Amino acid sequence: MSRESKTIQSAQLSVHPRLRRCLQRYADRPSESEPAAHTVQSFAQVRPWLESGQSLILDSGCGTAESSRWLADQYPDHLILAVDQSAHRLYQAGLPDGHLAVRQGNLILIRADVTGFCQLMRRCGLRVDRHMILYPNPWPKARHLQRRYHAHPLFADMIRISKLIECRTNWAVYAEEFALVLSYHLGSRVEVRPLRNPTPVTAFERKYYNSGHILYQVNASVPKSLHSAAQ
Ligand SMILES: C[S@@+](CC[C@H](N)C(=O)[O-])C[C@H]1O[C@@H](n2cnc3c(N)ncnc32)[C@H](O)[C@@H]1O
Repeated sequence: MSRESKTIQSAQLSVHPRLRRCLQRYADRPSESEPAAHTVQSFAQVRPWLESGQSLILDSGCGTAESSRWLADQYPDHLILAVDQSAHRLYQAGLPDGHLAVRQGNLILIRADVTGFCQLMRRCGLRVDRHMILYPNPWPKARHLQRRYHAHPLFADMIRISKLIECRTNWAVYAEEFALVLSYHLGSRVEVRPLRNPTPVTAFERKYYNSGHILYQVNASVPKSLHSAAQ
């Protein structure tokens, strides 16, 4: 099956012309926004677990948490933080109605906005061994640039709390932008790589792969100096 023509439909065919200006603006004027009240509440609920000393892995925008369960199996000595803002998706994953968080073995399902959650982790000096961002909402309309994680004012916190960060997407432009922003923060070139013949670990990965899309992967190690500089 040819994967060449299957991709996200967007009028934006390359890196957004305003992306670099956004990065400069955030560097000149770091965000002073406060996380949403429900994210603060969720974070407070899980904080004792996060600070227990167990190594952490964050699955940002986990959806129905298929990848989080896979991670929980792969890394039994780690605590997996499965964060999503959708009560509906987390309910399908096993979060009881009306709850903000639930722990199941080494997996914690958490309802929160990931940008605010990462901001709170950074403020508490917490760092995760791996940070997975799998098939984030692409926001393919050019005018929605700032809704993409890498163009969000708090993306620097999403990087700083990570030792390894990985994004997977079926939109080449998103992958290129993500790599560009990581390169900007890390000061070294980050490449986009095709993800060939994956054994799908998320519902979206399976859907896109089975319908013939090319999948892209961007990952990088984040130096400790970046984390320390943020304290
Ligand atoms: C396209 S789905 C991908 C879900 C899953 N990672 C997968 O690959 O199957 C994107 C997910 O990100 C969640 N999401 C989007 N923005 C978010 C945010 N700011 N905070 C938390 N979750 C968010 C959505 O609710 C949705 O479940």
